[in-house]
Amino acid sequence: MKDTLSNANFPLTSTGATYHLGCSPGQLANRIIIVGDFSRARRIAALFDDAASKQGIFENHSSRQFLTLTGTFHSTPVSVVAIGMGFPLVDFFLREARKVVQGEMCVIRLGSCGSLDKTIGLGSVVVPRRSHGVVRNYDWFHEGTSDEERRGSKPYQVTRGIDVEPGVHDALLAELEGNKPAADEELFNGHPPSCVGGVVNGSADSFYSSQGRSDPAFWDENEGWVEEMVKGWGMQTLEMETFVLQSLAHSANKAAEAQGKGEEQRVRTGAVQMIFANRHTSDFIKPQEVDVLERWAGEAVLRTLIGGVELHHTMDDGVWNN
Ligand code: URA
Repeated sequence: MKDTLSNANFPLTSTGATYHLGCSPGQLANRIIIVGDFSRARRIAALFDDAASKQGIFENHSSRQFLTLTGTFHSTPVSVVAIGMGFPLVDFFLREARKVVQGEMCVIRLGSCGSLDKTIGLGSVVVPRRSHGVVRNYDWFHEGTSDEERRGSKPYQVTRGIDVEPGVHDALLAELEGNKPAADEELFNGHPPSCVGGVVNGSADSFYSSQGRSDPAFWDENEGWVEEMVKGWGMQTLEMETFVLQSLAHSANKAAEAQGKGEEQRVRTGAVQMIFANRHTSDFIKPQEVDVLERWAGEAVLRTLIGGVELHHTMDDGVWNN
């Protein structure tokens, strides 16, 4: 039977679980990896302590398709959450996670992306240092907009960039560099996968139009848009989440500061992106190559969460330690 929800402003069940993510206080760790799909989440959770026996691993599959797996990695509590893709799902996740986690949080997005940079090919894993939002200008496409108004505006907009916290960026890169997979002649044309830091990312509100993919079934007006993003903003990768995660974490931190809880409620973020699509050659990665990148990058993110980024205010002992 479905639980009754209370509070239309921020709906919660009788056990305090949030409406979409479906987690109650105590079910989500302070250190979290967010990914796009279930199989990636499960592959990462396979690295948790006691993963084989599943002892001590909390699992929740919400009716809105968020999968949360919470356990420990080298004895430190961590969660991996499959949230899906795109701006709204990051919004659901971060707001609802903040509601049920006490203390500081570190949230790293591990996802796939497309590369606009000829020097960053399929099989690379990148750590962005800055992310911009890339959004369709819906008014430009509105039937009430005149040709003159269209000439004075653009069909797509790019936000100001938000820098990734340098400490998180550097810790992620160090973990990736320290544990590179060996070359395999069947994969990545026989070369070992590489990692690249300092990358400029765009998080788009569509996999298609605002990422400059052409689709004759829609009026998108995006010819030459990829080149413009590269020229105008130095964009090297495109995905759909990092910018929103960074921007919302900033909002959470501002709100916490205003309430005098800036230190103990801080939300720290970062991202690791696996290059699945090469927008120059139009190539897409093979499934066996995805396996290698996910394992490598997943472990690097887990190690960063437990060792590379220090959190001082957590629920690590099962209670709120402050
Ligand atoms: N994810 C994206 O958003 N874009 C790509 O090209 C590949 C993965």
